[in-house]
Amino acid sequence: MSEPVVLGIESTCDETAAAVVRGRSLVSNVVASSMDEHARYGGVIPEIASRAHAEAFIPVVSKALADAGMTLADLDAIAVSAGPGLAGCLAVGVSGAKALALACGKPLYGVNHVIGHIAVTQLQFGPFPPDTLALIVSGGHTSLLHVKDVARKVDVVGSTLDDAAGECFDKIARILGFPYPGGPHIDRHAQAGDPMAISVPQALTNGRSGARHPYDFSFSGVKTAVARWVETQHAQGGEIPVDDICASLAESVAAVLSRKAIAACERYDSRTLIVGGGFTANSQLRAKLLEEGGEHGVHVRIPERSLCTDNGAMVAMLGVNLVEAGVRPSAGDFPIDSAMPMSKIVM
Ligand code: KG4
Ligand code: ZN
Repeated sequence: MSEPVVLGIESTCDETAAAVVRGRSLVSNVVASSMDEHARYGGVIPEIASRAHAEAFIPVVSKALADAGMTLADLDAIAVSAGPGLAGCLAVGVSGAKALALACGKPLYGVNHVIGHIAVTQLQFGPFPPDTLALIVSGGHTSLLHVKDVARKVDVVGSTLDDAAGECFDKIARILGFPYPGGPHIDRHAQAGDPMAISVPQALTNGRSGARHPYDFSFSGVKTAVARWVETQHAQGGEIPVDDICASLAESVAAVLSRKAIAACERYDSRTLIVGGGFTANSQLRAKLLEEGGEHGVHVRIPERSLCTDNGAMVAMLGVNLVEAGVRPSAGDFPIDSAMPMSKIVM
């Protein structure tokens, strides 16, 4: 099998998505989102998201196959996100994928969604160099990973000790009155503000805690500091300089993420940094990573924005890697794992 053809299915949070990948080519890519149904609650409501997956599953998968001009019989395998994510949401995608696999007699892989965010970069940049470093930044995860072999061995180098970067942005966005998810709003306002206007703390970068946690992150202090600053400003009856707050926050978070990621590349002697996860759609982070990478001779692979947020292509691409590596498919009774560890690539 020279170029495996894999259908990837994603349902970890609010996107029901399916895509077909052949080798390193994206053949079709369909994403349905239930975000509009959650926006008024200020966050994703698992029960609503699960129902939306149940409704969207067949239409989305059917469209992905139709757009590819294929039927299930044309596939070499099916891959589905088995975790980490919302349990009820994962259960819909995994059960649907199991039914499809059983019906067409194709192998099924229950894969790690987060590793999918890394795998997807191959669609744009080709196969990984060996021993690559990866920075994953999403609503739920902020991690530095050492990718020895994306199909077989991924180790955690560092991660957030509290909030993920996306979570931190979403919480601050709420304070500033932006609708959920707030990350893209902060991005937009930051472009009009002064990144030096307000001092935003950078945890675990200096002193003893910095030395003890060279590749770990902490963003809960950032959230608290910005919240206090806004409260004080309110109490004094002052204007809230929204653009400046967003610019200072985005600059600070982008700087910490980039500096630690490039430092990890130097420590592991990696000339390439793979970047993935919904937050890597962020303009300030993209610019900072490219700048820092350029200064340190590290080639930064950031996927186009549509491949940063959750999609089926990332799952299908990881499925192709597993088929190519000859990894055994998941057993018929594999469970979902809402807290699937990063070091586990496939169930
Ligand atoms: O990977 P993802 O789609 O879902 C998870 O697996 O968490 O990431 C979603 C996160 C949200 O926190 C959202 O606010 C953030 O990514 N995000 C952004 C931007 N686009 C999405 N954050 C900052 N700037 C953006 N442009
Ligand atoms: Zn994600």
